[in-house]
Amino acid sequence: MSSNKVHIFDTTLRDGEQVPGCQLNTIEKIEVAKQLEKLGVDIIEAGFPISSPGDFNSVVAVSKAVTYPTICALTRAVKKDIEVAGDALKYAKRGRIHTGIGTSPYHIYQKLNSNPDEIIERAVAAVKYAKERADEVEFYAEDAGRSENEFLARVIEAVVAAGADVVNIPDTTGYCLPHEYGSKIAYLVNNVPNIDKAIIATHCHNDLGMATANTLAGVVNGARQVEVTLNGLGERAGNTALEEVVMAIKCHQDLDFEVGINPKEIIKTSKLVSTLMRMPVQANKAIVGRNAFAHSSGIHQDGVLKNRETYEIIDPADVGIEESSIVLTARSGRAALKHRLHVLGYDLDQEKLDQVYKNFLVLADSKKDIGDDDLEVLVGHEKKEERVIKLENFQVICGKSCIPSATVTLIYNGKTITETATGDGPVDASFTAIKKMIPFDVVLEEYLVQAVTRGSDDIGKVHVQLSHDGRTYHGFGANVDTLTASVWAYLDALSKFA
Ligand code: KIV
Ligand code: ZN
Repeated sequence: MSSNKVHIFDTTLRDGEQVPGCQLNTIEKIEVAKQLEKLGVDIIEAGFPISSPGDFNSVVAVSKAVTYPTICALTRAVKKDIEVAGDALKYAKRGRIHTGIGTSPYHIYQKLNSNPDEIIERAVAAVKYAKERADEVEFYAEDAGRSENEFLARVIEAVVAAGADVVNIPDTTGYCLPHEYGSKIAYLVNNVPNIDKAIIATHCHNDLGMATANTLAGVVNGARQVEVTLNGLGERAGNTALEEVVMAIKCHQDLDFEVGINPKEIIKTSKLVSTLMRMPVQANKAIVGRNAFAHSSGIHQDGVLKNRETYEIIDPADVGIEESSIVLTARSGRAALKHRLHVLGYDLDQEKLDQVYKNFLVLADSKKDIGDDDLEVLVGHEKKEERVIKLENFQVICGKSCIPSATVTLIYNGKTITETATGDGPVDASFTAIKKMIPFDVVLEEYLVQAVTRGSDDIGKVHVQLSHDGRTYHGFGANVDTLTASVWAYLDALSKFA
């Protein structure tokens, strides 16, 4: 089946969720699935229903929550798995069972204690059984990366004849190099007589850092579905990053492939996944890392200000980044400072600019990155907070041999109020003091601290997730003092409904 459309199969909620510590509850999975729908993915792999009641319920809930993407459920080549997956997909507008078995010598002889003929028999039986229970069937040949091409071709021919609509060729252990993986796909295209009846899918793990390169090699050689996750999450070193494959295809129009993704939703989706899965994105991660579009040296800044494309192959706005890509540091020149001030609405005359630049350099020497708030202070304008709940003051007492306590003063609906509370730690005490002043039932679902810079002037970024009245609210705060960032994040989440 060859067309230029490359189908995006997102497995953040299945392969991504297998990462230790990244488990999501059903409400969070629905939130991610809805965002994946906005992003424009074609297929959402929502879980492995037989593995737990939670996974089963999540597949049901995601099936009900989204309209356009096909919903996929994973199984082994086992009857019971397939029955349960079929039940979980009952509410999907279009459901797909993803079933499969190992095809490499390691899997055939050691893991499954079997033989090649029996593997083909089991694969065919699973596909036929799944075909009766879902709109579509995808077959995966686990460890295809280390499987012999001739045997792989026999398996694929048999499962396509049994009705598989998609055949997935996973490099389960991330072993292949791009030319090997590409020629494996080419081998199947050229040696499986009925291959035109199915779509070939890539599913590449990143153990050697080759996942994106292998996936693209697969596409170039005939694959038309790519299995990917946001931020490259997945078993061990992870899976292929959706954002990398999509933007590589978009940047290389010469390849002439199409994807149905709205790239402007990429950053938002990446952040949501990172927050909910408690998995910070590495700073230099392609496309979605905080430094992916950051220019800090004076020479690069000057080049980008003259023509963005001097040092950028992607316009950050195309992936949904609104902030400046110019990071102001002690190495920045007047041009970068003037530009940022202009963006913030300050057009200073030369004398004032010189003065601000002098103060800027002093500050930049003691603080690595200068943010917009710092600039507001440098030009003499503090940003006004426009919140119903404002933080007036807070003080905490904590230490080795005392009960942590916090006294918080808020301006709430124009009135100044103060409360004191104790807690398990200073953050807990601060949140409890705030809760005493706000007449809403809220539950703290999640609290995540991330360091933004390294060193003694670290900025702590805090994400807070509250639930209130059956809904989830996210809050965000950043400050050199993590406690202040925590209180801001908590108030930010409260402000969304208070
Ligand atoms: O990596 C892998 O082989 C998988 C399969 C279950 C598709 O995740
Ligand atoms: Zn995998």
